[in-house]
Amino acid sequence: MHQPVLLKEIIEILEPGENENFIDATFGEGGVSFGISQLTGPNGKILAFEWDPELYKLGVKKIKNLKMEKRIKLVNQNFKNIKRVVKQEGFSQIKGIVFDLGISSWHYEKSSRGFSFKYDEPLDMRINPNIKITAFEVINYYSYKDLVEIFKNYGEERNAEKISRTIIDRRKKKKIETSKELAEIVAEVLPTTKKIHPATKIFMALRTFINSELENLEQGLKDSYDVLDKGGKIIVLSFQGLEDKVIKKIFRMLKAKGAKVITKNVVRPTKEEILKNPKARSAKLRAIHKQ
Ligand SMILES: C[S@@+](CC[C@H](N)C(=O)[O-])C[C@H]1O[C@@H](n2cnc3c(N)ncnc32)[C@H](O)[C@@H]1O
Repeated sequence: MHQPVLLKEIIEILEPGENENFIDATFGEGGVSFGISQLTGPNGKILAFEWDPELYKLGVKKIKNLKMEKRIKLVNQNFKNIKRVVKQEGFSQIKGIVFDLGISSWHYEKSSRGFSFKYDEPLDMRINPNIKITAFEVINYYSYKDLVEIFKNYGEERNAEKISRTIIDRRKKKKIETSKELAEIVAEVLPTTKKIHPATKIFMALRTFINSELENLEQGLKDSYDVLDKGGKIIVLSFQGLEDKVIKKIFRMLKAKGAKVITKNVVRPTKEEILKNPKARSAKLRAIHKQ
C-alpha cells in the first residue's frame, strides 16, 4: 500500500470542511482522497484523476468496497485535461486541488513495467499504454545525442555522456531488455554510493521523458487555477528538482494574477516521517491560495 507523504500537512493547509468539494489530481492508491473525504462528510465530493488504467480499476473497486461511490468519482484521465474533465463531470465549488506527483508504490512493486531497478522486468515505464514510446525503444534505438539530452534534461545526470556511450556500445552486441540489465550497465559506469543506486537519475529521466511528466504538470497546474473557487488552495507535492522548477515557475505566474503563495518556505517531511517512509526523503510541498 502506498503511504501518502506529508498527508497531515496537506490536510492542515487544505482545512477540509463539511460538504466541501476537492480534486485529487493523482489518486494512486487513494490515501489523499480518503484522508480528505473523512472530513468533508456527509455530502462533500472528490473528483479524482488516475491516468494508469490498471490502478484506476483497482481504485474503482476500492471506492466501491468502502461504499464511497457517492463521495469519490474516479476518472481514468490525465490531469493535464483538468479543465475539460471538470466541465464534462459538471464538478464545481472546488475548494482545493492536490497534486502528489510521480508514481505509486504499486508501480514499483506490482506493475511489472520496469520502473524499479530492483527487479528484472521488461523496460516499459509507461504510466498509460496509449503512450507511443517505451523505455526499451528509447534505450535501444535513440541516438547518442538524444540519450544524452534525455539524461541531462530530465534527470540532471552529470555523467550523461559516459552512460550514453556505454549504452550504445552494449546494445550493438545485444539489445538491453530489462530494468536490471540497464541498472547494471549504469552501475558499471558510475561509482556506487551507499545511499542511492547509481541508476536512480537515469530511471527518473526515462520515466519523466516517456510520460511527459513535466509537460503534464505545467499544463495541469496552470489550468487547475482556473477551475478553482476563489479562496481555494492548490497543493503540489514533488519529488525531484525539475518538477520543483516547473512548480515555482507556474506559482510565479499565478502570483502575478493575484494568488498568494502559502508556503513561503518549502515544507519538508520530518525525520520521523522519513524514517518510517524513506520514499518521503526528497518530498517538497508548495501551496498557493486563490484570492
Ligand atoms: C505519488 S502517486 C499518488 C499517491 C496517492 N496520493 C496515494 O496516496 O496513494 C501519483 C499517481 O499519479 C498518477 N499520475 C501520474 N501522472 C498523472 C497524470 N498526468 N494524470 C493523472 N494521474 C497521473 C500515477 O499513476 C500515480 O498513481
